[in-house]
Amino acid sequence: MHMHKYEKWWLLIGGGTLILFLSIIGVSAFAMGHTPPSDHMTINPAKVDETAPFNEPGLKKIGENEYELVMVSQAFSFTPNDIQIPKGATVHFKVTSKDVVHGFAIANTNVNMMITPGHINSITHTFDEAGSYLILCNEYCGAGHQVMSAKIEVS
Ligand code: CUA
Repeated sequence: MHMHKYEKWWLLIGGGTLILFLSIIGVSAFAMGHTPPSDHMTINPAKVDETAPFNEPGLKKIGENEYELVMVSQAFSFTPNDIQIPKGATVHFKVTSKDVVHGFAIANTNVNMMITPGHINSITHTFDEAGSYLILCNEYCGAGHQVMSAKIEVS
């Protein structure tokens, strides 16, 4: 079917507008999908020191050989950075960042997460083997990235 030149132009503009519209919707949906599911998972990174439980970082016994370990990461350290736990302990880590994105990986375990400012990151691990476990930042976070670490002693 024959079409006048200007009719084709209108079709192109209409199609272009539709694509633009769909991509805006798509981008919004994508952004919404990456919003944390609930408020207790978020934290104001500027107020970490005054927000529970991060106002008192450290190890807390919550059951039979079960602990909650609240840790704060910032360039270029973890607080606390020297932790002692009994062999066989199950540890529920809760970690946030006061500044930039850091990594949180425990050598010789499958613990490996990204610590994003504004978010509370949780992971649980049971330490069945005694030994010294190194917590490493495995996300590049600046000049002191290589020295950013902490230690867990399991005995
Ligand atoms: Cu913190 Cu790399």
